[in-house]
Formats: sequence, structure tokens, C-alpha cells
Amino acid sequence: MKSSFTLLLTRSLKNTMAVFLFGGLSATSLAGVGEGQELYNAYCQICHGALGEGQTMGKPLTDAPANRLLDQELIDVITDGRAGTGMVAWEGSLSEVEIFDIASYIRNLQGKPALVLGGDDSGPSDDPNVIAGEMLFNGLADCISCHSYNEKGGSVGPSLEGVGSRLDDGAIMQALMSPSASIVDGYGVKEVEQQDGTLVRGRYRNDSELAVQIQSEDGQRWVTYFKERVAAVRDLDESLMPDTFSNLGANEQQQLLAFLKSL
Ligand code: HEC
Ligand code: HEC
Repeated sequence: MKSSFTLLLTRSLKNTMAVFLFGGLSATSLAGVGEGQELYNAYCQICHGALGEGQTMGKPLTDAPANRLLDQELIDVITDGRAGTGMVAWEGSLSEVEIFDIASYIRNLQGKPALVLGGDDSGPSDDPNVIAGEMLFNGLADCISCHSYNEKGGSVGPSLEGVGSRLDDGAIMQALMSPSASIVDGYGVKEVEQQDGTLVRGRYRNDSELAVQIQSEDGQRWVTYFKERVAAVRDLDESLMPDTFSNLGANEQQQLLAFLKSL
């Protein structure tokens, strides 16, 4: 009952929106690359947000689960909907070409290239390089102790969720090969020199007139140092990220890279 009601609601919503859309646009603005976007804005944005960021009635289309959908899965979920949820089947309301164009536009919102008809875009999990890369990430290379994805992992470094679409190949390589060349905002490093000369460095977290708070390099502890009780607090321009990557073999580097790009 609930889902047929939602269906009705959505269908009538769609019709209203369609009138609104087609009434206001000239035929030319609907043709070509922008078509997926026009259709998305008319039918999908109300639940998924103007940029796929999500709304109360629909989930984000730019988060990790949506990013991981294979091209065919993306097309299928739009075509067939998800039974028992607000996501109705659009087959029948939209043509195959229209669904394809919208799916293509969703890829754009995810920062990925548009869909290619008949393209052999096999999923990350099928690629042996990606699988091997993920094992390295969580094992030998131990990236996981500082970085998270899929909501697990450390917090000394930024989450690598979506890093493959956020950074281009050059930027990923630079982050891996020379971590200190540019440091991600909010991941600066401070060094505290204690009165006995001991040095402690970690991720800078907070500051006040009296104290500075640092997250230990292993991520486990957040420590507050009172400025009047330490000899000095310095900014370091060195990343906390070790140069593990450059010490891996070419094969392993390639696997790790393939995994990062699948995120
Ligand atoms: C009435 C609200 C609503 C409308 C309109 C709507 N969706 Fe959805 N959509 C949802 C909901 C809710 C889900 C989550 C379903 C679930 O729980 O799996 C969803 C899921 C999806 C997913 C799967 C995302 C994932 O991470 O698995 C895609 C892709 C999607 N919608 C695309 C579209 C497109 C394209 C349109 C427009 C043609 C559209 N939706 C219109 C509510 C809506
Ligand atoms: C000791 C903690 C630590 C470990 C271990 C570590 N990193 Fe990092 N990583 C960081 C920090 C901190 C940053 C952010 C500062 C910077 O820009 O260098 C970072 C940045 C990055 C970035 C750039 C992210 C962005 O959003 O720009 C990538 C990619 C990355 N690390 C990948 C890896 C990989 C792959 C490994 C395993 C080989 C790894 N890291 C191991 C701490 C770590």
C-alpha cells in the first residue's frame, strides 16, 4: 500500500514537474549533453538534491555506496527502482535513452566520466589489482591506521572515501610520493618541545590562549599541552604521512593506486 501510494505521489509529482520543465524550456536547451541534467533536475533533484547531495526523501548519489554502483547497476536501479522504498521504477515514465542520459549525469555529479554505451566498465571488486591494493592498504602498507574508507580506519589523515574522484592521478601520485609537498587543510602538524627537551609531534587539533591540543601520531590519544608548561610549540611543514608508498615495489604501487582510484 505504502509503496503504491508513493508511486502515485511520485508519478503525479513527475507530471507536475514535467509540465513545469517542458513549459519553460526551448527545444534546443533539451538536446545534447545537458539533457541528463535537465531530466535529473526535473525528476530526481527533489529527493536526491540539486548536486546529488541527498534530501530528506532520498539518499545522496555522490556517497561511497552510490559511487560503487557499476554502470549497469546504476541504470538498473533507475529503471526498476528499489522495492519498498521511495525509489520507484522509472521504466515506462522515462525512455531507455533518457535513463541513460540521467545515469550519465549522475556520473558527472560523482566527478566521473559520463557513461559509455556498451562500455566495459567492470566494477572495482572484479579487478584483481583493486583487490590486491585493498589488501595492501589494510595490511602490509598499513594505510588504514591513519586513513578511513567505508567508515573504518584511522583519523590522523583525511578519509580517503571518494579520493579517486576528488583527486586526479597527478594529485594522488604527489600525495603518495611526496606527502609534505602540500599538506591537506586541517591536517597540519605541530611539535611540542617539553621542558625536559622531549619532542612530541602530532596532528594539530585545537588551540586556545593557554593550551594546544594535539592528536598523537598513532591517532590514539588527544593530548592537551599547557603553553606555559612547555618550552615551545612549533608548526612543522612536514606531513605525518610516512613515505611507505615510494618504498613499495612497482607492482604493489600499481595495485594500491588502482584501489585508491576505485574509492
Ligand atoms: C520520491 C523520492 C525519490 C525520487 C523522486 C527519486 N529517488 Fe532515487 N532514491 C530514493 C530513495 C529513498 C532511494 C534509496 C532506496 C534504498 O533505500 O535503497 C533512492 C535510491 C536511488 C539510487 C541508488 C543509490 C544507491 O546508493 O544505491 C539511485 C541511483 C537513484 N535513486 C537515482 C534516482 C534518479 C536518477 C531519479 C530520477 C529519475 C530518482 N532517483 C528519483 C528516492 C527517490
Ligand atoms: C601516520 C599516518 C599516515 C599513514 C600511515 C598514511 N598516511 Fe596518508 N596522509 C596522512 C596525513 C596526515 C595526510 C594529510 C597531510 C598531507 O597532505 O600529507 C595524508 C594524506 C594522504 C593522501 C592525500 C589525501 C587528500 O585528500 O588529499 C593520500 C591519497 C594518502 N594520504 C594515501 C595514503 C596511503 C595509500 C597510505 C599507505 C601507503 C597512507 N596514506 C599512509 C597520514 C598518513
